[in-house]
Amino acid sequence: DGFSACELFGKGYSYTYDDVILHPGHIYFGAHEVSLATRVTRNIELQIPIVSSPMDTVTEAEMAVAMSSTARGFTSACVTDTGALGGRLLGMVTTRDVDFVNDRHTPLSEVMTRDLVTAPEGTDRAGAMALLLESKKGKLPLVNADGELVALATRAHFKAMRGLPPQGAPALSPDGRPRVGAAVGTREDDKARVAKLYDEGGVDAVILDSSQGDSTFQLCMLSHIKRAHPELEVICGNVVTGAQARRLIEAGADGLRVGMGSGSICTTQEVCAVGRGQATAVYHVSRVAREYGVPIIADGGIQNSGHITKALALGASVVMCGSMFAGTAEAPGEYFTYQGQRVKKYRGMGSLEAMSKGSDTRYHSDTQALKIAQGVSGVVKDKGSVRRTVPFLCQAVRQGFQDLGGKDMADVRRLLVEGSLRMETRSAAAQAEGGVHDMLAYEKKPW
Ligand code: XMP
Repeated sequence: DGFSACELFGKGYSYTYDDVILHPGHIYFGAHEVSLATRVTRNIELQIPIVSSPMDTVTEAEMAVAMSSTARGFTSACVTDTGALGGRLLGMVTTRDVDFVNDRHTPLSEVMTRDLVTAPEGTDRAGAMALLLESKKGKLPLVNADGELVALATRAHFKAMRGLPPQGAPALSPDGRPRVGAAVGTREDDKARVAKLYDEGGVDAVILDSSQGDSTFQLCMLSHIKRAHPELEVICGNVVTGAQARRLIEAGADGLRVGMGSGSICTTQEVCAVGRGQATAVYHVSRVAREYGVPIIADGGIQNSGHITKALALGASVVMCGSMFAGTAEAPGEYFTYQGQRVKKYRGMGSLEAMSKGSDTRYHSDTQALKIAQGVSGVVKDKGSVRRTVPFLCQAVRQGFQDLGGKDMADVRRLLVEGSLRMETRSAAAQAEGGVHDMLAYEKKPW
């Protein structure tokens, strides 16, 4: 019944996520047991398979911090005199304390809450939870007789005891820092940027940001980085074919970004006639990348949680989202009103507007006098906070995995490779049937 991915994607058609529907498998576990832990490069693990696009209307510091702390599942920090566990507890800072402080310079001591409910060292789990319930606080620091912080009990632990989904742990480097990645170009002056990012910024990975990554420029930059900073992980791309993937992996790529013209703001396929349907691209690149143990990032075209599950089921280890996170509170730029709706700007890095600010190298057009746009500039609706969106997306993907009968990435990969993940394409009518229909009005999902 149905087809294996190998059969379906070997027929010469370019399919995107909506064209394909996955068959359910056998459920033998709860959705809360599904792990979404994954790898974004050969050596960097993430607890959730979602990253935000390196675009100037999507990711700046605020988005990076929010994505990192969304994965952490906590929104507050204890302040101690040593700045670490074991120091004397001075106060606590929560998002409520910093939401209205729009700078990065105000000392924590000015905004932190000093009047805390604490519990003595040795308080057991049940006792701590009883105190949390009674005080209606989210966090309960445990302190010793000298007022030093020894542990922290949280409402999240309490929720986990009630079977609500865990949020996942942060992606941390061995010395305890949140993992950081940065996108760079492949020009001569990008070498100095990489050195600075590595030496001063402590980045763990760089993305060589190009719409067509199978180029001499990218191979040269890759070999330069591998020589100059051997510990830095390098994500190459974008690619959509197995041949492109093989060339970059054999040159040393630690991860690949997949997608050409599938993004919501992209016009590459129309303007340049090249690209590939995203589901087909993800499947074919993942087949090659898997031979080398290199993870791939499905970049662009993600419109809902089902697309994420499809991308992961077809071999991606991570999805990268632009439009999903554009228009959120954490995306750069201010909200404004457009045709009565609260909106933020979202633009392609290949739009003339963005290229005039330096992204033309991404499209190999920095040396050309006449710039050809490969993307558009526009607006998207206010989408609230990623702190709300990401947990919803993750839980929906867990439920998708459960329906497929895969408990984690490896399990879903096994189904794909052995051909027991069955699927088929959907006619236009089947796609319409798969969405909401015959409703006069209904409440749309918030993300
Ligand atoms: P979504 O669909 O998530 O796509 O909005 C985001 C991804 O699209 C790519 N990107 C572009 N592709 N012209 C293109 O052809 C552009 O102007 C452009 N800007 C971004 C990029 O890979 C991003 O992550």
